[in-house]
Amino acid sequence: MTHAPLLAVEGLHMMFGGLVANRDISFSVGEGQIIGLIGPNGAGKTTLFNCLAGYYRPSAGTIRFNGVAVGGQTPEEAARRGIARTFQIVRIFPEMTVLENVMVGAMLRTKKVAAARAAAENELVFIGLDHRSDVKAAQLTVSEQKRLEVARALATHPRLILLDEVMAGLTPTEVREASQMVVRIRDRGISSIIVEHVMEGIMPISNRIIVLDAGVKIAEDAPAAIARNPAVIAAYLGE
Ligand SMILES: Nc1ncnc2c1ncn2[C@@H]1O[C@H](COP(=O)(O)OP(=O)(O)OP(=O)(O)O)[C@@H](O)[C@H]1O
Ligand SMILES: [Mg+2]
Repeated sequence: MTHAPLLAVEGLHMMFGGLVANRDISFSVGEGQIIGLIGPNGAGKTTLFNCLAGYYRPSAGTIRFNGVAVGGQTPEEAARRGIARTFQIVRIFPEMTVLENVMVGAMLRTKKVAAARAAAENELVFIGLDHRSDVKAAQLTVSEQKRLEVARALATHPRLILLDEVMAGLTPTEVREASQMVVRIRDRGISSIIVEHVMEGIMPISNRIIVLDAGVKIAEDAPAAIARNPAVIAAYLGE
C-alpha cells in the first residue's frame, strides 16, 4: 500500500459569482516538503489558501489532508487537523501583547494557560521575537507582525503551514533569514506552501514551484525549470 500524501488537491474550483478564481487545480504536498506557489497578482493564490484553510468552501473538487476529505471544513477544524496559515494582510490582535497573540494559537491544543504560555514562549524564541514578548502587537513593524503570525501558526502544532507573502517588503538580508526560517520549520517535520513574489526567497529552498495564472495552474516543476519555463515567463511579462 502506498502512503497518501499529506495534502492532495483534486480538481479544485472556486467561483465568486461569475469569476473563476481557481479552475481545476490539482497538486499534492508530501511530508516535509516546501512548495512555492507563485503567479501574477490576482492569479488565485490567496483564494487557494482560503480554500485549504477552511475560509472558503470550494465550489467543486476535493481536498484530502492526511487521507481525509476536508473540503468545506471550518478554519478551526482545519487548524485542529494541522493546517495553519498566515494572512497576506496581517490579522494580529493589536491590543494584545506579542506573547498573548501566540498564546491564542497555543490554546488550540491546551486549555492550561501556563502550558500555552510556555509553548508560546518557545515559538517566540524559535522565530526570534522573544525580546518583544511583552509589547503590544500593534507596536511591531509590519515584518515583525508577519513573523508573529508565523509564531502563532506554529503554536497550533501544524503539519502544514501556509505562508502568504511573509517576505514582502523585507531587505535582502531579512529575506535570507526568512528562507532559513522556512527551512528550520521544515526541519521540525512541518510541510509548507509559500505564496511569494520575492523569488530569491523561495527558489533556493522549494522542492517544487506551482505557478497559477488567472486561476489556472500553468506549471509545476523544480525551481530551476520554472525559471526557464516559457509559459511562466509569458504570464509574468503579461502582468
Ligand atoms: N472574496 C472574494 N470575492 C470576490 N472576488 C474575490 C474574492 N477573493 C478574491 N477574489 C478575486 O479572485 C481573484 C484571485 O484573487 P486572489 O486574492 O486569490 O489572488 P492572488 O493570487 O492572491 O493575488 P495577489 O498576488 O495580488 O495577492 C481576483 O480576481 C480577486 O479579485
Ligand atoms: Mg494574495
